[in-house]
Amino acid sequence: MSEVTTTVRPSGAAGLTHPKPMISAGRIARRVRQLGGNISHVYRDIDTPLILVVILKGATVFAADLLRSLSIPAELEFVRASSYGSGTSHGSLKLAHMVDGPLVGRHVLLVEDIVDSGRTLHAVTRRIRRMKPASLRVAALLDRPARREVNVKIDFLGFTIPDRFVIGYGLDYAGRYRELPGIYSLD
Ligand code: IMP
Ligand code: MG
Repeated sequence: MSEVTTTVRPSGAAGLTHPKPMISAGRIARRVRQLGGNISHVYRDIDTPLILVVILKGATVFAADLLRSLSIPAELEFVRASSYGSGTSHGSLKLAHMVDGPLVGRHVLLVEDIVDSGRTLHAVTRRIRRMKPASLRVAALLDRPARREVNVKIDFLGFTIPDRFVIGYGLDYAGRYRELPGIYSLD
């Protein structure tokens, strides 16, 4: 696949220096296809559609590509988890909107963009477990283990990244840059 060249304009207002390319759109696409294959294999014998529970908003781009790389039936649900404040700072965690349908007895795959401290995944996992799914696993595009505070298990992982804040492919800085097709780091 050909690489997409994107110009990222540094924004004085957001205080950004030049974002550095970290993972190209082509590499992401290849990895997501592999994950889709692995996931389809693991769940090949389940008798109800797999439910992808997508953690808004950052994981939506990853989830849309992952969904289309599956060769098994799947449904979509969303949860909203956000920290107060914006930018790269961490506030306290807020869990809003939960899934619409019942998860009792269903096979659930949580879809997250990046696991950082692990607090988001830990909190969402606890809430989902209370809904008594038949199984619960986690797919995360990125893992940044350097800042882990809570131990969480990632069953399907795209890439492990160094201790840099990243944007693009759904990931934002203060609500921006989600549209970039690749992943860039900010220094
Ligand atoms: P955690 O709760 O500390 O693991 O943080 C995970 C959440 O913080 C993710 O769902 C992201 O929305 C956000 N986040 C963490 N690191 C980054 C980053 O480098 N870029 C954009 N969002 C991030
Ligand atoms: Mg998130």
